[in-house]
Amino acid sequence: MITIKTTEEIAILREGGRRLAEILQKLVEASCPGVSDFELDVLAEELILACGGKPAFKGYRIKETRVAFPASICVSINDEVVHGIPRKNRILKDGDIVGIDIGMQWPNQELRTKNLELRNIRGMYTDMAVTIGVGKISAEAERLIQTTRSALDVGIRTVRPGAHVGDIGCAVEEVLKREKLGIIRDLAGHGVGHDLHEEPLIPNYGMRGAGVELKEGMVIAIEPMATLGGWRIKLDRDEWTIRTADRSLAAHFEHTLVVTKSGAEILTK
Ligand code: MF3
Ligand code: CO
Repeated sequence: MITIKTTEEIAILREGGRRLAEILQKLVEASCPGVSDFELDVLAEELILACGGKPAFKGYRIKETRVAFPASICVSINDEVVHGIPRKNRILKDGDIVGIDIGMQWPNQELRTKNLELRNIRGMYTDMAVTIGVGKISAEAERLIQTTRSALDVGIRTVRPGAHVGDIGCAVEEVLKREKLGIIRDLAGHGVGHDLHEEPLIPNYGMRGAGVELKEGMVIAIEPMATLGGWRIKLDRDEWTIRTADRSLAAHFEHTLVVTKSGAEILTK
């Protein structure tokens, strides 16, 4: 079901999203050579809990049968596209490109102390990701990162009531194709808010005018994923880490946004 969020729900998402963006900025600043991604995960969880939120990824299962995600952030290094698992022995090094993906459940401030369960208010989810270079990275890696970021911006600019999900995909695809990047086809953006993943899916390719029509109050996460090689991916034995099949470098950016009267408001900024 595609839900339209109320003004009150959007206010909660806005506050949660703003805090999430602040936390991700701190993680980016902490991402120096020699730091483990496990340390980044510990910091992320501390910061989320300290501000009164709840990590959205920890314990999350995509299907009932799959293993629960064990951390508060996904850290995806070099040929890892998304869903990399932080580990104590994974140390960031000069020249790495690192995707940091983070989600938070944020309760209404007033209701936080009162009868949360009784009123069945679980808080609202926001989701975002960036890819950064550690130390000095190659010109090709830099081009991959800049283009993927710009594909997200261009995708967001197509959002307004009456536009279609295919308009977003088409715009993202155009930017990535122009730079001859691989476009991940088997993963997509998504609706978000009451849950981490809601309908509709937001693919990073598509046709203008095709797919679900956007309406004021819809909340979606747009997340282009691109590679310096092909589009094919494979799942690691840990059942989470998704990497490029050809081991080429991959980048990922994501924002949560709400469809407004005249366009889009980025909630994770
Ligand atoms: N941004 C990612 C996504 O939308 C976060 C999911 S990680 C998980 O797929 F652990 F929660 F699955
Ligand atoms: Co997402």
